Amino acid sequence: MATHPITLDYSLAMQAGLSSPAGLSDAELEAQLEPTSQAVRAVLAKAEAGELGFFGLPSQREMLAEIDAVASRLPSGFTDVLVLGIGGSSLGTRAVLEALRPPAIAGRALASGPAVHLPDNSDPWIFAHLLEALDPSKTVVLVISKSGGTVETAAQMIIAQAWLHKALGKDGARARIVAITDPKSGTLRELATAEGWATLPIPSNVGGRFCALTAVGLLPARLCGLDATAMLSGAAAMAERCRALRATDNPAAMIALLSWLHDRERGHSIHVMMPYADRLKSFAAWYVQLWAESLGKRVDRGGRTLECGPTPLPAVGATDQHAQVQLFMEGPRNKLVTFIGVAQHERDLKVPGNEGANAYLSGASLAQLLEAERLGTTEALAADGRPSLTLLLSKIDASNVGGLLFLYEAATAFSGELYGINAFDQPGVELGKKLAFGLLGRSGYEAAAEQIRSAQRSRPGRYRS
Ligand code: PA5
Repeated sequence: MATHPITLDYSLAMQAGLSSPAGLSDAELEAQLEPTSQAVRAVLAKAEAGELGFFGLPSQREMLAEIDAVASRLPSGFTDVLVLGIGGSSLGTRAVLEALRPPAIAGRALASGPAVHLPDNSDPWIFAHLLEALDPSKTVVLVISKSGGTVETAAQMIIAQAWLHKALGKDGARARIVAITDPKSGTLRELATAEGWATLPIPSNVGGRFCALTAVGLLPARLCGLDATAMLSGAAAMAERCRALRATDNPAAMIALLSWLHDRERGHSIHVMMPYADRLKSFAAWYVQLWAESLGKRVDRGGRTLECGPTPLPAVGATDQHAQVQLFMEGPRNKLVTFIGVAQHERDLKVPGNEGANAYLSGASLAQLLEAERLGTTEALAADGRPSLTLLLSKIDASNVGGLLFLYEAATAFSGELYGINAFDQPGVELGKKLAFGLLGRSGYEAAAEQIRSAQRSRPGRYRS
């Protein structure tokens, strides 16, 4: 059997491995292999038809030349990159950078290349401090929005443009802004054209939360000197595996099948993502958005009410052994935990020989400690009949990060087919946006403003303390 740099072990999600009916029986799994093949076929057909662009991204190497051309035209000597984007327009970028760059410690950058800031939220505390701290003449601003009309990004963009403009004039500001957005449509595209900003496309058929392997993740990676080519190669190798029709040969299809069956048949509706590596904390946050926004849906594709969707939960080992693991071990039996282990850590430290109560640690490395803790927690859950999946990464490098992102994008698409829902829209976020626009006085949203005011007026005031 071929050894892959990313492998999935699902024995503890199965009855036979877990020795508990909380696991799935072989018969249950086998009964769903054909429907899962159909799900894979459906996704591949949509990819072939050009509806699902994310599947073809790993083979689009010409993207890199376009990205390099834009990068090479940026003013030299910048020390900071300010990335304005939210949700899918920032989480993938953060996941890539956190996995592949050493962190800044106590304000000191350990990585070479520029510091990258991803404020994401429109929280004034962070954004005001960022603009106060950054030097506009040494900062490059990337504005990222697939739709081009996201309010949080638009507000930050206007503030940042004025900040650059004030310090550097119109031309100085123009040279430092890159817009990454839909190739043709949207307000950001129009604005970029009108202002003469450099632009890079998010292909029209790639949804916001599936765009980490476009310029959205790859331009910041390139600006930091990371190996974007290796990211795409790792994603391409994973895409190849994810084309197999049989789930037993296709890790994304197997993740989709097991997660869906555990949710539907065992009530394991909380899906925990728990890497044993701080470098993958933001990967877990990216997964949360991908899984939640894609699979949490009111209706199926036929319009019938389902109100389905697993609840993703991020955790990190070993830190969460001192926090959430108590709940995972003794709380409601409604969780499927995915552990991520790393076979080889790039850096490691050995505990020097010592005597007394800590003598058992002599000569052990921190990587060994983390691995022992991962295995300990996995086996402890299993001993209590609580199911888990394990993904084992050979190491954390550009290729495996590309592979991991693709794996979960494909697993999400296959899951959407199994749930019978559209995994690529997010209608549930629209009403809240409309109401906020109404409150901001946006033209065309007067009825929304009235809806919110009248709801507030009619609410009894006695429940306040
Ligand atoms: O996945 C999605 O579509 C969303 O999470 C978006 O990424 C998020 O709302 C930001 O949208 P946009 O990229 O259009 O600014």
